[in-house]
Amino acid sequence: MTKNLNIYVATMTGTALMVADEIEDFCKTEGINTNIVEMDALEPKNLENINAPILIVSSTYGQGDVPDGSKNFYNNLKSSNISLEHIKYAVFGLGDMTYKDTFAYGGKKFDHLFLELKANRIGEPFYHDASDGSLPEEEAVNWFKEKIFELL
Ligand SMILES: Cc1cc2nc3c(=O)[nH]c(=O)nc-3n(C[C@H](O)[C@H](O)[C@H](O)COP(=O)(O)O)c2cc1C
Repeated sequence: MTKNLNIYVATMTGTALMVADEIEDFCKTEGINTNIVEMDALEPKNLENINAPILIVSSTYGQGDVPDGSKNFYNNLKSSNISLEHIKYAVFGLGDMTYKDTFAYGGKKFDHLFLELKANRIGEPFYHDASDGSLPEEEAVNWFKEKIFELL
């Protein structure tokens, strides 16, 4: 059976989108269909009929905030109280340890919200630290390949 994956992206300067593109390229080689969506375009009701897993790729801004474009979706989802019991999801968060008190809070906030709404997390989230010199897209594809892909 063909596998599908929704990749929901929250980004400020495009790094998270680049990560999503690289994961999409890997998925193509494995015959997985992907659907990349920036969270700016999402509303809670879009989650009601989702039956493919969701990979959340979110960076962090301000003082541990989700990126500006994803704030409406985050806040609306938080106040919606809808059940996400039918959803499987994984999280790749982008952050920078220079902001040690709010490291990767963007991805962590989405993770906590999805858990609160009873979605089913697959694998452990990966939080990329931009200060350690590694490339987020490389780390992301390795993590996805080793830890997530088999669980889709
Ligand atoms: C103004 C600004 C504020 C940031 N605040 C945080 C933060 O609070 N915590 C964190 O872990 N990273 C923080 N970051 C780091 C970004 O999340 C990180 O560089 C990320 O890779 C950017 O991804 P993007 O291009 O997809 O937005 C901040 C970066 C900038 C420029």
